[in-house]
Amino acid sequence: MTLISQDIETTRLSPYLGAEVTGMDLTDSSPENIAVINELLLEHGVLFFRDSMLDVEEHEALARGFGEPSVFPLSRLMMKPGAEIPFMGEIIDTSDDPPNADGWHTDVTWIPEPPKIALLQAVDVPESGGDTLWADLYTAYESLSQPMQDFFDGLVVNHQVSPVIINAARRRGGAELADLLLEKFPPVQHPLIRTHPETGRKALFIAGEFMICIEGMHEDESQMWLSWLKDYINNPNFHVRWSWTQGDLAIWDERRTNHRALSNHYPSYRHMRRCTVDGDRPYC
Ligand code: SIN
Repeated sequence: MTLISQDIETTRLSPYLGAEVTGMDLTDSSPENIAVINELLLEHGVLFFRDSMLDVEEHEALARGFGEPSVFPLSRLMMKPGAEIPFMGEIIDTSDDPPNADGWHTDVTWIPEPPKIALLQAVDVPESGGDTLWADLYTAYESLSQPMQDFFDGLVVNHQVSPVIINAARRRGGAELADLLLEKFPPVQHPLIRTHPETGRKALFIAGEFMICIEGMHEDESQMWLSWLKDYINNPNFHVRWSWTQGDLAIWDERRTNHRALSNHYPSYRHMRRCTVDGDRPYC
């Protein structure tokens, strides 16, 4: 356990990734408080705060401390003129609407400037199951042999909106909305190895089903490497896992992590509220 100040303590949850923080007032989004959270975030990658139920306004204010809250591209396309801007994403799993985030990803890598930070509030959780896992992409990069690092360095991956999101668009607005989503968000290129803009450390920038091909490779070569990368991230040595209690809040750095939400609570109810913060264009 590390004492940061008179009240704030952190407990590391794995050697590389994740820490539980106590004694932090999350309703304080002053620059001084945000600077402390950001420093911890840069060190640990994911922070967990128990018993920290924020309302929507407090959640948004905390996110705003780190930058401009993002609007999910599909929500923006669906916005009616004059409507309130939907900064919050509600993730509600029910028996009729099953969980759909049970695959490794980084949020919204299919846009040129994906989010940099996410803040997830557990509003209502199942009796058991529905944990979330994060994988450390620094460790994933650093665990590669030198020849593999050299091979991946300089490769560029095409990212595109996934079938799960296209289907969600189709359910909400028919084929027209799904087509509009694909038209507005054509594939975008990102480096396979990215440099974290604040720490300067390198991370393996992978994003599950959002990755569609590696630039310049033949289809079979590209599929082989993407499949290898998707499997590589399953190494439990890279992971930290959180079992939610109502009122927990997690904040994570999207630039060095992948995450996945388990679906083993289905058909039980689970309600999370998520906000992300706009990031910059990833670079090698
Ligand atoms: C997500 O951000 O992909 C969902 C995380 C969760 O519901 O635990």
